[in-house]
Amino acid sequence: MAALRLPLHVATLKAGTCRAFAGSLAGNCLADRRLWDQLHAQPRLGNVTTFDWFFGYEEAKGLLLPLLQQARVACPLRVLDVGCGISNLCADLYTKCPHPVEVLGVDFSPVAVAHMNSLLEGGQDQAPLLGAHPASSLKFLQADALNLGPVASSGAFQLVLDKGTWDAVARGGLSGAYQLLSECLRVLSPQGTLIQFSDEDPDVRLPCLEQGSQGRPVTVQELGPFRGLTYFAYLVHGSH
Ligand SMILES: C[S@@+](CC[C@H](N)C(=O)[O-])C[C@H]1O[C@@H](n2cnc3c(N)ncnc32)[C@H](O)[C@@H]1O
Repeated sequence: MAALRLPLHVATLKAGTCRAFAGSLAGNCLADRRLWDQLHAQPRLGNVTTFDWFFGYEEAKGLLLPLLQQARVACPLRVLDVGCGISNLCADLYTKCPHPVEVLGVDFSPVAVAHMNSLLEGGQDQAPLLGAHPASSLKFLQADALNLGPVASSGAFQLVLDKGTWDAVARGGLSGAYQLLSECLRVLSPQGTLIQFSDEDPDVRLPCLEQGSQGRPVTVQELGPFRGLTYFAYLVHGSH
């Protein structure tokens, strides 16, 4: 399993915080909720209120928007971000997608979810989220991505996003990662797509996804390099 690299936007964190991140990532289990509560509570510089692992919406939109365009049989489109953390991906999709979208971000960290809800409510001097399609919506809920039953019914989402969450869960063992995959596929609509964004090499990730994807086609696209690093988008396509 490839190591999680330090996030690209780490430069936006205070220097002391960076060292704490580096130490934590080396020595702790990224499947542990308490570690994530600590990481998500780290102070951020100035008016920086969100933190994206790997990369953000601008780097992902070239892949996401055509997929949303194709999936427009459903209106509004439903998008789930599992392990959303304090990333800006959900908010950017909500404000910038030209089609109506219902975006739900879930994370098992109550700290992350409270933070995102406070931003949504205009807390922390945050400017209101402007520009969204009038029929679009955005919400954040606390949920374990290994058991999405309380927040997501089967087949409900046209797009399920996982940016760095498999990577974190897999640190606790591959059985958790397979359970995550199984839940993502359960809530995916038959024509939908699950996208995992990761820096993990296809030699490692593809066999796992092929084994766990219940016969669905799996493809991979190289992304980047962004700031010198190459990433991958692993797409598990719907069953129809
Ligand atoms: C590498 S971070 C990625 C965060 C965000 N997706 C991003 O791109 O910035 C992994 C996220 O998964 C969350 N997470 C880990 N295990 C989880 C689980 N079992 N259920 C829900 N969230 C989980 C962590 O709290 C963390 O926010």
